[in-house]
Amino acid sequence: MSPSYTGSSSDEDDVSPREKTQKNSKGSNDFCVRNIDLHAFGRREIEIAEQEMPGIVALRKRAADDKPLKGAKIVGCTHINAQTAVLVETLAELGAMVRWAACNIYSTQNEVAAALAEAGYPVFAWRGETEEDFWWCIDRCVNAENWQPNMILDDGGDATHLMLKKYPAMFKLIKGIVEESVTGVHRLYQLSKANKLTVPAMNVNDSVTKTKFDNLYSCKESIIDSLKRSTDVMFGGKQVVVCGYGEVGKGCCQSLRGLGCVVYVTEIDPICALQAWYAFTLMGIDGYYVFPLNEVIRVVDIVVTATGNKNVVTREHMDKMKNGCIVCNMGHSNTEIDVGSLRTPELTWEKVRSQVDHVIWPDGKRIILIAEGRLINLTCSSIPSFVVSITAATQALALIELFNAPAGRYKADVYLLPKKMDEYVASLHLPTFDAHLTELSDDQAKYLGLNKAGPFKPNYYSQGKLVMPKSKSLQMLLFYAPYDERTVPPAEILFRVELESKNLFEFK
Ligand SMILES: NC(=O)c1ccc[n+]([C@@H]2O[C@H](COP(=O)([O-])OP(=O)(O)OC[C@H]3O[C@@H](n4cnc5c(N)ncnc54)[C@H](O)[C@@H]3O)[C@@H](O)[C@H]2O)c1
Repeated sequence: MSPSYTGSSSDEDDVSPREKTQKNSKGSNDFCVRNIDLHAFGRREIEIAEQEMPGIVALRKRAADDKPLKGAKIVGCTHINAQTAVLVETLAELGAMVRWAACNIYSTQNEVAAALAEAGYPVFAWRGETEEDFWWCIDRCVNAENWQPNMILDDGGDATHLMLKKYPAMFKLIKGIVEESVTGVHRLYQLSKANKLTVPAMNVNDSVTKTKFDNLYSCKESIIDSLKRSTDVMFGGKQVVVCGYGEVGKGCCQSLRGLGCVVYVTEIDPICALQAWYAFTLMGIDGYYVFPLNEVIRVVDIVVTATGNKNVVTREHMDKMKNGCIVCNMGHSNTEIDVGSLRTPELTWEKVRSQVDHVIWPDGKRIILIAEGRLINLTCSSIPSFVVSITAATQALALIELFNAPAGRYKADVYLLPKKMDEYVASLHLPTFDAHLTELSDDQAKYLGLNKAGPFKPNYYSQGKLVMPKSKSLQMLLFYAPYDERTVPPAEILFRVELESKNLFEFK
């Protein structure tokens, strides 16, 4: 989930919230936010977000009577913005008690944190925390009077890390961890590998609905918005190169092309390169031209990286760029553009806006670097609430599943969200579009080897991304018979995948 870029948060106050004495209108001081008086404004922001979050709101309504999280005591550590507030309030409505901290020192919407504190949620977060404040806030959520947490909802793995290191006895009593980010999931797999993970954890980052919406559709919308906000650029007629034609790259290409850009793609993977070319050719229009970056770098007006890799744009590339070229990154980390190589004495840096730098060469040529190579969309714009609704519904269901699972269903390991729940998250959002599913007939269900109520796809099937098992025999099986019900019914593949599943999977 992303920080919101509303520009409305007030962080001009010099006094640290830790030094202030604040109470909400019910007299509670079990929170630490920038300014509790901002709560009314924050409440309006939450109400606006709810309008665009149909799935999580539907889940709230459907499960409110059952209270599936009754008895859950959740430590939350995520971005704190209007959309996450909708999640926090949903979890409470479903019966959970929560304590919440921010997973990022800059992303908290102060007015939203105030609204949550006013509503009685122990929130410890403000925009512009120091590193020390950051850990103090998480600590306040983990270690409090009369409080033994039993679930963690993490985005980046910091709450998990702190509890494991500082409160190991408390960590042992945790029933489950739900982790949203690539980084946090990576840390969990490392813990599991080192046999240090003593509780079950669910990787919601790789659930299909989340991946599709977060990576493809959301990036498709936010690339344009963030470039416009930061540079006021006109897109029509511009030449753009998008590095990496995965989910994020596909989304970026589609919208840039839609606004009249000539789009080039760079790829290392021949399948993605072929997809790039075929993106439009079936409609009789040229697809995206696929070239190595070196061959197009002199002509392009905008460079977008979306590979998840490092040093994709090097100093050598930047030396060749033309005057005024915009350089930005959509990938997870700031390693894709070698920004460090621009910090040399002959180049001058000029800050022109809060997230925009001009880097000027001795001959006067300048390139426009956005957010110093960090994710442009999360830094310079906001993420659609609808996308967060999908992620939030996924997180809530993962918490419900881990909290209510009978003993033995999950061991101390990292799991993907069961496919059936992934499908349920999508179904929660269908009424928004007045979309109605086709029901399988008994005969069809038998033919495909499926249950009529789902899941409709095997766990390894990831709507475009195949999660490959490590076992060679299973790889062969999937390679030769993915979805070929005449030879191996999907249900059987699924069964055999599950048999071999523990620790066998590598994630692409
Ligand atoms: N900005 C956002 O809001 C957002 C959202 C989701 C994911 N992400 C991040 O974006 C990145 C890409 O995600 P994805 O889902 O598209 O991944 P992906 O694996 O589907 O796509 C990445 C593509 O880059 C290609 N690639 C790798 N190295 C390359 C190189 N040197 N040159 C050219 N192509 C190269 C790969 O072959 C692959 O096709 C990841 O870091 C991910 O964490 C960002």
